[in-house]
Amino acid sequence: MIYFDNAATTRVDPKVASVVQEAMLDVFGNPSSPHTLGLAAERLVRQARDALAAAFGCRADEVYFTSGGTEGDNLAIRGVLEARSRKGKHIVASAIEHAAVLETLKHLADVGLCEYTLISPDGKGYVAPEDLVAAMRSDTVLVTVMAVNNEVGTVQPIQEMVRQVKATDNAIYFHTDAVQALGKIPCRVTDLGVDLLTASGHKLAGPKGVGSLYCRRGIRLSSQTTGGGQEEGLRSGTENVPGIAGFGLAVELAMNQMTERVRNWREMQECLLRLLEEIPDSHVHGEPLSNAPHIINVGFPGVKGEVLVHALANEGLFVSTGSACSSKRAPQSHVLAAMQVPRDVAEGSIRISFGSANTTKEVERAGELIAKAVAELRRFQRQ
Ligand SMILES: Cc1ncc(COP(=O)(O)O)c(C=O)c1O
Repeated sequence: MIYFDNAATTRVDPKVASVVQEAMLDVFGNPSSPHTLGLAAERLVRQARDALAAAFGCRADEVYFTSGGTEGDNLAIRGVLEARSRKGKHIVASAIEHAAVLETLKHLADVGLCEYTLISPDGKGYVAPEDLVAAMRSDTVLVTVMAVNNEVGTVQPIQEMVRQVKATDNAIYFHTDAVQALGKIPCRVTDLGVDLLTASGHKLAGPKGVGSLYCRRGIRLSSQTTGGGQEEGLRSGTENVPGIAGFGLAVELAMNQMTERVRNWREMQECLLRLLEEIPDSHVHGEPLSNAPHIINVGFPGVKGEVLVHALANEGLFVSTGSACSSKRAPQSHVLAAMQVPRDVAEGSIRISFGSANTTKEVERAGELIAKAVAELRRFQRQ
């Protein structure tokens, strides 16, 4: 099996799995309990918070654990809207955000709680900071742009976006969805300048169902989950201690090994691009080598992306069309559509995404399998 669908989710690192297991079987106390088992669980949560704070270059008390990227994005958007209602309810976002952002905005607008403006990227997937500023209004409370796009891997100029947004209206908060960025590119919040940043555990060999929201001190955010007051009252509910402990270790490993992992991924990207170039009429989207190191999205007109994904899976190669969350529903990728990719190319596109355990040898084999499957499907299509 060759697993190249790591932007959808990753296999948990065995070291992470053993920390999760230990937290489940041995350190099973409630972190709010005053006895020794509770204190031991609280220590695990604290260690994980410290690991995330080190990765983001922030204070530990600016990191809040959530159930994943979707909740982090929801909390940032809904929490800001509620806390800043006096200023207004307008939000500016990129048109290529994950569904966790786009569907939330759509829903909130449908029920009258927000208005929003979406900014399209250029043909390579980049969103221009000037376009964000041009869309801002006096009642804008939040600008939200993802650090790395999950379908094509475009890295947005977040630092420059924040600079321009704040220079125009310093009272607007800036949120970035860094779910695909953490462990792949530097995510230090002081360098980026963001007020809010979402991360998720399962994209970097951590467990599913756990994530975090960085919220800069002084930023006003309303809780969306009330109850026992955990996470400084921002996100009530007994902490997912096993998940949090695993997430903390996964982030620590990813940060310690980032230079080496990125070097390997770049080699793998270069190798795959060479192999894809040999396939007639193949279209690589965006500029993978100057963007996220772990993603390549390529289209083959004359082939249906879903059919290709199934044909490759039958050969033991796992890739995806677009994002895993939407590929079962949406006939066409909203990201490729926003990038003005012609329909036949977009429909024949697949996303190949690497994880920490992948090798160049696997890329060579994958290149052969893709070339063979594309040729066969095109032949079949023509008959
Ligand atoms: C960019 C981005 N944001 C948010 C999410 C949602 O994260 P989670 O699956 O942890 O809810 C994903 C997952 O696919 C993602 O790629």
